[in-house]
Amino acid sequence: MDRFLTLTRAARLVGVPRGALQKRIKTGELATFEGLVRSDDLLRLYPEARLEDNSVFERFARIKDEAYTRRVRERVLPDASVLAARVTALSREQAELRAQLSRYRSLVDVLEQRLRERASGADAAAAELHAWLRRELRAGAPAVAPLAVEDGVLRIIAAHVRVQPSGHEFFVEGNESILAAALRTGLALPYGCTDGSCGRCRARVVAGDVRAVDGGADASRPEGRDGVRLCLHTAVTDVVLESPEARGPADIERQHLVGWVRSMKRVAEDVMLLGLQTAPANRLRFLAGQSVTLALGERLIRDYPIASCPCEEGGLQFHVRRGTDAFSAHLFDGLRYGDVVSVVGPEGRFVLRAESANPVLFLAWDTGFAPVKGLIEQAMALDAAEAMHLWWGVRTEGGHYLHNLCRAWADAFDNFTYTPAVPSGAPGPGVRKWLASLGTEAAALAAYDAYVAGPAWFLEAVAPELIARGLAPSQLYAGVVD
Ligand code: FES
Repeated sequence: MDRFLTLTRAARLVGVPRGALQKRIKTGELATFEGLVRSDDLLRLYPEARLEDNSVFERFARIKDEAYTRRVRERVLPDASVLAARVTALSREQAELRAQLSRYRSLVDVLEQRLRERASGADAAAAELHAWLRRELRAGAPAVAPLAVEDGVLRIIAAHVRVQPSGHEFFVEGNESILAAALRTGLALPYGCTDGSCGRCRARVVAGDVRAVDGGADASRPEGRDGVRLCLHTAVTDVVLESPEARGPADIERQHLVGWVRSMKRVAEDVMLLGLQTAPANRLRFLAGQSVTLALGERLIRDYPIASCPCEEGGLQFHVRRGTDAFSAHLFDGLRYGDVVSVVGPEGRFVLRAESANPVLFLAWDTGFAPVKGLIEQAMALDAAEAMHLWWGVRTEGGHYLHNLCRAWADAFDNFTYTPAVPSGAPGPGVRKWLASLGTEAAALAAYDAYVAGPAWFLEAVAPELIARGLAPSQLYAGVVD
């Protein structure tokens, strides 16, 4: 039976990024009906997505896990009561369909009998209709659509959530909370503590059933008319929520937090990955690509872009190059695990245009890779970009301090390419060559978004190259990282 599927569900079922489906919609290969696609059309484009190939879910999990090798994620089935509720809902739906089918079958039997009676009375039209009906009935039931079966499995192992008014969608897996699932998917829902105490994540459940996540603090407290706390609840069935997502930096308030040094990793002679942990009940709310001010005591203060994505659990990451300033000198020579660091922010407008499905160019110079890393991780979590291409320039061989991570992305995602570069002079010629290698003719580049991060001289060198090849200046986003 032909079915209509949302783009997110369809992408998940056939194991491709949403961007790949959007590209096929753009080229006219895949039709949409009020934002939905037909399962038959999907099977025509992805004939390999059949039940015999039951690796769809494994493939999906592998791709995500390969790209986020350090991510510790619970990837288990929901607990027994949630599973039971989902199976019950599906059984009810199936019983209703059976009852309907049985009713239609009786009607067809009566119709067939009436037509037979009229046909025997020399009614030619009735005879023709009767013959046609018998032929159709003899043809039997249509084959079971494999995607419909997989969709049923998906509805048991993961609940689908749609957020109003943004229309964004995501899946809640295992026993994770709805908030955790939304953040993992790159959505900027409001939240504060993540443990049920601040109430900022409250959202109205428009449709569907939710229930407290096992062991959630204070989960037993009844939820009021203001909605449920998403950090304490998981989705039992498919759910529609009403929640005000942050649409841009202006929607995120400035915060003052205290963090602790959780990790310090020298990844190059003079580059350190600094990991800060804030209290679980006081996580920084930010958009990927934004910066914060870090303060060690009252005198050592400096702004740094955040290199992690809000879609990742596990604190904040910064890429610090040793400079002549006192802050970085202290980081390399005096900082210890557990030291207290004040965090104020976030700031900055160098954020992902999440609503755009355009292919994306990322260009970074040296530690300008830090905010770009956050943007790439968010773009991957959102799964919306049709294609992503990263050009990362450094001055010396071996300077791509997270080279393996970039290669892992390129290996795991069909729509991601990575080009490391070590230009000896100005980066312009190298960038020009790279753009040519992507096959981006001027007209094609007009349909791209480009994010460029690095020192001011790099931005000044690269922006004209992109615009000369057709990139619209309004689709060029720049972040200065000194
Ligand atoms: S109650 Fe604070 S984030 Fe949910």
